Amino acid sequence: MSLPLRRAEHVATAANVAGLPAPDPRARPEVAFLGRSNAGKSSLLNALVRRKQLARTSGTPGKTRLLHLYEVEIAGQCVRLVDLPGYGYAKVAKRERDAWKTMIEGYLAQREGLCAAVLLQDVRRDVGDDERLLLDWLDEQRVPALVAITKTDKLKPMRRAQRLRELRAELPLAPARIVATSAESGDGIDALWRAILERVRDAAEAAAGGD
Ligand code: GTP
Ligand code: MG
Repeated sequence: MSLPLRRAEHVATAANVAGLPAPDPRARPEVAFLGRSNAGKSSLLNALVRRKQLARTSGTPGKTRLLHLYEVEIAGQCVRLVDLPGYGYAKVAKRERDAWKTMIEGYLAQREGLCAAVLLQDVRRDVGDDERLLLDWLDEQRVPALVAITKTDKLKPMRRAQRLRELRAELPLAPARIVATSAESGDGIDALWRAILERVRDAAEAAAGGD
């Protein structure tokens, strides 16, 4: 059964972390979405908040160039979801790629109240060096990572099951941290929410323990 969702709204768009609203770790824990350009971040966000176009999606890679912060109230918990610009878009100049890295790493390493990063992995692509480096880096920074395998509707059931097995074997994460999703069919969206809310609870418990 779907978790009860009461509110979903766009709160802010910013060119850098300084432009985002102040963090509010206790009341509004944050979850960041990152992945290769066109992996389906904005579409997955829309599926999570059950709105067609809250986040702008596009067939043209590189659509999301800014940080977008959304807020939802789900199962009685307020959560902030942050849509980050995609990486790996070949047509972007090196200078812009470096700026991306600085901005994203700054946000992920320093944002108070960030309790998980969801890395998106297209079911049809192999796990690349970019994904491995990001997962290693998140681990070093002690940011809990989840992987959302996206666009599972693009493959027929047999092929899909095979790809999911391959990707789970390739990814350096526990099986519970890897969720197969489709923004198109809605498959796995509730499972991803549950995995996210578990990370939110873990962070709250760790914060309470640290008082
Ligand atoms: P950038 O903002 O450029 O980094 O891209 P993004 O990761 O936000 O991707 P976006 O959500 O804009 O989706 C890219 C394309 O993939 C669009 O044409 C979407 O319609 C399509 N897409 C995303 N998710 C799914 C899915 O679950 N199934 C199918 N069939 N298509 C999807
Ligand atoms: Mg996007």
